[in-house]
Amino acid sequence: MIRFATLFIFVLMLTGAWAQISTNALLTLANTNGTTMSLSISNSGNQTWVIQSSSNLTSWTTVETLKVFNGSYQRSYTNSAGGNLYYRANFNATNQTIADTTTNALGLPATNYNYSNPALPVEFYVNPILAEDNMPVNGPNADPTTDADATLGRVLFYDKRLSTNQTISCASCHQQVYGFSDPRQFSVGYNGSLGTRNAMGLSNARWYQRRHFFWDERANTLEDQTLMPIQNPIEMGMTLDALTNRLAAEPFYTNLFALAFGSPVITTNGISKALAQFVRSIVTTQSKYDLGLTNNFTNFTDSENLGRLIFFGLTNFPPNPPANCSGCHASDNFVPGPAVNNNGLEYPYVDLGVGGITGNTNQYGLFKVPSLRNIALTAPYMHDGRFTNLAQVVAFYSSGVVFNPNLSPPLVAHGGTSALRLNLTADQQVALVAFLNTLTDTNLVTNPQLSDPFNYGH
Ligand code: HEC
Ligand code: HEC
Repeated sequence: MIRFATLFIFVLMLTGAWAQISTNALLTLANTNGTTMSLSISNSGNQTWVIQSSSNLTSWTTVETLKVFNGSYQRSYTNSAGGNLYYRANFNATNQTIADTTTNALGLPATNYNYSNPALPVEFYVNPILAEDNMPVNGPNADPTTDADATLGRVLFYDKRLSTNQTISCASCHQQVYGFSDPRQFSVGYNGSLGTRNAMGLSNARWYQRRHFFWDERANTLEDQTLMPIQNPIEMGMTLDALTNRLAAEPFYTNLFALAFGSPVITTNGISKALAQFVRSIVTTQSKYDLGLTNNFTNFTDSENLGRLIFFGLTNFPPNPPANCSGCHASDNFVPGPAVNNNGLEYPYVDLGVGGITGNTNQYGLFKVPSLRNIALTAPYMHDGRFTNLAQVVAFYSSGVVFNPNLSPPLVAHGGTSALRLNLTADQQVALVAFLNTLTDTNLVTNPQLSDPFNYGH
């Protein structure tokens, strides 16, 4: 039995205006102007649809057959002849003829982008930043970035097939426009469940001396980390077997795997490495701060420079000691060295952080701090996303740090008996926020080599 045209949408053109006369859950329509109509299809199954038009609702002409890649498709149609015109989109389960080839599913450049050799400032090649580099270049787990591997990683990062019901990708919770973070306090998984931590930004995640990933450092390497959200029951809910089978059915994946690893066979090892290489390619080095490093900060406003002096503990505010944010947010990547820290968010500890993984009570309440690069893009802040803006973060460090047994030394005062209270003036707090805003690299949010490669029509 053939069941054709189970889902319809009709669009009517009446004397120059498009009107929507019928819709259903999978389809939405928007009028753009009198003669152009835009049609959007949302469809998480990567399926093929037939678009037809009619001037009398009786005889229908097929306009095109199209495939909805990765969840949504958008197309504009023009009615140049005038008069009435109706459109409908049919889904036919037995007529899924369009294959996902690399060229029709993806908008990849003819020659791969350069991921393997990013232009880095000179200080990235010497310590302390050299020691922060977590790219494994030698040994059995070596995973140096190549352009073909990172290209595959880019496709995987944006592909909703990685979640069991094909509704979310890594990028759903790590959005480029927000510095690869999630603007929601807690991310929403494939079935609508909420996590308990905020998705941090991924800017310069390649540089972190302790190598570990996640707020509680439970992933020992980035290659270990990338398979975890896929299998996490509230995030993407997949099994690795189901994933390799699903990807093996897509011609573009066998192609990209062959280009990356020399074999079309889809492996979890390949998925993990390609994703890790893409994440390591989220490199940002063109902020106002980076420019300032080359011109002695003459490009900074007075307020930004005051904030810089406060951040690096270069100025005293008697009777208070220097703020020294860089005691923990160090180097030009603003990450700690060998230590993992507690910044006095709360006591008793609600989230045990690193100690919850190791069981070591001296590590209760300790958390990884990701780079502060692009911090202005990655609100809300802290592992639980408790602060909605940077002014709240700075106000917290000024007067809200809570003394606790595991408070890290830079924030301990009075011979170890209480927390440092900077009591910054309003101007000083504004200056510190202004400085944090100089860490934004606007190229990151538009960089095409880090953006969604799927073909959504248009
Ligand atoms: C449902 C939302 C969600 C999805 C989907 C998701 N993440 Fe995350 N990601 C998070 C959250 C939340 C955290 C912080 C969790 C924690 O630390 O416990 C995180 C943390 C990370 C980190 C750690 C960064 C650091 O500096 O330690 C990396 C890397 C990362 N995710 C990459 C990925 C990749 C790659 C994918 C796709 C395979 C992915 N994420 C999918 C929400 C998500
Ligand atoms: C003792 C070490 C330490 C010092 C000093 C310190 N921080 Fe932090 N900072 C941390 C830790 C640890 C976290 C993560 C805490 C958490 O989420 O539980 C953090 C988080 C942050 C975040 C949020 C990061 C994100 O991705 O959500 C910002 C912004 C920040 N700190 C700015 C500052 C500023 C500004 C100063 C100086 C006034 C400062 N820090 C001083 C350890 C420190």
